[in-house]
Amino acid sequence: MCAIEPQPVITTQRLRLRRPRRTDAARIAELLNDLDVARMTANVPHPYGLADAEAYLAQVDDASPDELAMFVIEHPAEGPIGVIGFDSAGQKRTEIGYWLGKAYWGCGFATEAAKGALAWASREWKRRHVMARHFSDNPASGEVLCKAGFLYTGDVTLGRSAARGAEVPARMMVWLA
Ligand SMILES: CC(C)(COP(=O)(O)OP(=O)(O)OC[C@H]1O[C@@H](n2cnc3c(N)ncnc32)[C@H](O)[C@@H]1OP(=O)(O)O)[C@@H](O)C(=O)NCCC(=O)NCCS
Repeated sequence: MCAIEPQPVITTQRLRLRRPRRTDAARIAELLNDLDVARMTANVPHPYGLADAEAYLAQVDDASPDELAMFVIEHPAEGPIGVIGFDSAGQKRTEIGYWLGKAYWGCGFATEAAKGALAWASREWKRRHVMARHFSDNPASGEVLCKAGFLYTGDVTLGRSAARGAEVPARMMVWLA
């Protein structure tokens, strides 16, 4: 019998997106224990340690593949450089999220990963629309999302940043397959 792989490897021009493994914990903790990265995300606290990464990976492992699709972004020479994924849990809508270690910013990797992940989400995961939000003081993420085909909805909501311990204005965006 041929089992259908719910979350295959996604290959882009320079990157490989694959399912997270428990053994990624140390590398994820190393890259995410950086306030410049964490402060632009909703859920990553600062400081961020090995136990945080292990808890995150356990949560990914336990989640239903219909609700959560997370990928480690791997560079052939560097190994894991970040994470990208989709969360549909507890909602009728799917939202994209991502981060890269600071050493890997400014090379187009986030845009490349987002385009690859969205193509998978539409073709294989059968999502017709994907939401995104970025903090208003994070124009680089807005650029990534625009280049990946998202449009601003015009809505601005307050979103919690765990690392800042504060509510921050966030701009909503949508992508249609
Ligand atoms: C946001 C993030 C993923 C971008 O990764 P990246 O690989 O550097 O992104 P890319 O290189 O694909 O694209 C970034 C774009 O933003 C632009 N940019 C960077 N800083 C900018 C700024 N301050 N203002 C406007 N544009 C900016 C870049 O010029 C680039 O656009 P270009 O290719 O047209 O020149 C990365 O900075 C990161 O991980 N930040 C912390 C976590 C985070 O913000 N996650 C997203 C939460 S919504």
